Amino acid sequence: MAPRSLLSATALVARGVAAVTLSVASSGGNATSGLQYGLMFEDINHSGDGGIYAELVQNRAFQGSTTYPSTIDPWTAVGGAALALDNTSVPLSSALPTSLAVTASADGIAGISNPGWWGIDVLASSTYSGSFWVLGDYAGNFTARLVSDTANTTLASATIAGPAVADSWTQFTYELQPSADAPSINNSLVVTFDATSGETLNFNLISLFPPTYKDTPNGNRVDLMEALAALNTKHFRIPGGNNLEGEAPPYWWNWTTTVGPLVDRESYVGTWDYENTNGLGLVEYILWCQDLAVEPVLAVWAGEYLDETIISEADLGVYVQSALDELEFLMGDASTTWGAYRIALGYEDAFSIKYVEVGNEDNLNGGDASYVDYRFAAFYDAIHAAYPDILIFESLSDLSWTYESAGQDYHQYTLPNYFVGQFNFFDNLPAGNPIQVGEFAVVQNNTANVDTGVNWADPKNPWPYWIGSVSEAIFVIGMERNADRVWGWSYAPLLQNLNSYEWSPDLISFTADQSQTVTSTSYDVLKLFGNAAFTSTLPADTSDDFGPAYWVAGEDNATSTYYVKAAVYNSTEDVGFNVSFDGVASGATASLTVLTAPDGYSYNSIGSTAVVTTTSSLTADDSGAFSFSLPNLSVALLSASA
Ligand code: AHR
Repeated sequence: MAPRSLLSATALVARGVAAVTLSVASSGGNATSGLQYGLMFEDINHSGDGGIYAELVQNRAFQGSTTYPSTIDPWTAVGGAALALDNTSVPLSSALPTSLAVTASADGIAGISNPGWWGIDVLASSTYSGSFWVLGDYAGNFTARLVSDTANTTLASATIAGPAVADSWTQFTYELQPSADAPSINNSLVVTFDATSGETLNFNLISLFPPTYKDTPNGNRVDLMEALAALNTKHFRIPGGNNLEGEAPPYWWNWTTTVGPLVDRESYVGTWDYENTNGLGLVEYILWCQDLAVEPVLAVWAGEYLDETIISEADLGVYVQSALDELEFLMGDASTTWGAYRIALGYEDAFSIKYVEVGNEDNLNGGDASYVDYRFAAFYDAIHAAYPDILIFESLSDLSWTYESAGQDYHQYTLPNYFVGQFNFFDNLPAGNPIQVGEFAVVQNNTANVDTGVNWADPKNPWPYWIGSVSEAIFVIGMERNADRVWGWSYAPLLQNLNSYEWSPDLISFTADQSQTVTSTSYDVLKLFGNAAFTSTLPADTSDDFGPAYWVAGEDNATSTYYVKAAVYNSTEDVGFNVSFDGVASGATASLTVLTAPDGYSYNSIGSTAVVTTTSSLTADDSGAFSFSLPNLSVALLSASA
């Protein structure tokens, strides 16, 4: 997307400044409520299935489509059994018609083995809970085991009593308690039965979960949720971006296929090169928000596929009704059709939805004309009439249009110098409706010409580099200064499975091995700022210009804390700061946290954090000022009691 406003290239020539003197007032800021730091999520980079969604078994239900046909992979046979996909005359459900037929080639143990999503982290501290379904005439016991493929040992084992029967599916549940940590993540789940030669049993929905965050059923990985919780964000856009839109008809993110028992959930042709199980469905997203204590921004499908297919005005009504049904499902009481369905599923209490976004990037793929012409209004008018308190965002990601009191969503993937150049972007916008910066990130390094944007034909950065993270901090500071207009922001994308991904850089990278999670340099910046949320900005009296130092002052009136967030970019020397706060006297103390890295191209990687965090205590001098200096390419937070 072309930036609407840039500082000139000359503004980014490296320079120094002796010192910045700020005198922060105790009131009169331009924000009435704090900037809503946020998260944005979709099943990209196996960040849902195979990622934060804690299911350990890959391809648990042999789900497929014409785009991604059902496959046996990565299941393998145990005991020389023959494996075949089988659409039995008695399906497990209409949603899960395909099962795995396991035919013993000899008397003895036969079964199946699954290596997980590129490994299974097996820990003695965890109890693993699983289940599987069987169709077939069998009276004996089953065995479920976690085995180390590195050491060729059994880590945990459970015996599960039959019988299974020939004419209907039977569910079996089991628990596995390892006695020791596995030597590596090279482990498998093995399910076997005591067969006679030629005997066939069909298996489906073979599942295994570790403990989940806050023990939420069908929930999320603990370690990744803890990393998200540490960011202290306020909102969460679900269920995506491009994945919401769908690649081509008939596949769009139809919420009705994502709720109810897992056995009744059909899969979804994801946008990011793999089939989504829909195990992570609408309710799971909302519970995820509850677990993180953040507000959902519920994105609803807006009648545009990524292949440029647009639903006509005459045919749009059914999709508008689907969005209304979705809101009724989440918020309706027992007297409503969909509210009653939610209650029947076990969710007695209504959920709360305060924010809705209509579509995603509807200015792209030929969507803008129809969006402006009829699509947005159809959704907005219907949702606003039924739920007048919901803030509804439009999704033209370039701020080119708005409608009545709708919020706007702005996306910016760019280069470090662009973000620094966009520091004043929001200063220059006329007053208007609330803006959500729903996706932003540095995706490539600077080029010689500052006015050159992202070249999407070139590779994107493999991970956030420090220079980009500092520039993102400056862009965030620019948003924060305008928090009366900028409602909130989200870095994107959020998660990356290092074994299979389509989009980098990402905020957090991971593998099945919990010890390999990488929180990026951008994560470090956003965590520092997110844990210093403002309830309002504060004016800072100064004669100093922005650049190479950038700052914003604010307060959290709930904790009576003053903050200054600052960053230095492209400076030839350290920048001194003298900061005084109205009412904070000589001798008072403040805490200063400074993030630096060895150089602009440093990055966090597995087992290695490039970002250096230095925290010090400062004492106000005789004039009540806190003095410190920040080096080039640094991000800082000063906090003092008000
Ligand atoms: O964040 C990755 C993708 O970038 C999102 O799915 C889409 O909204 C944007 O184009």
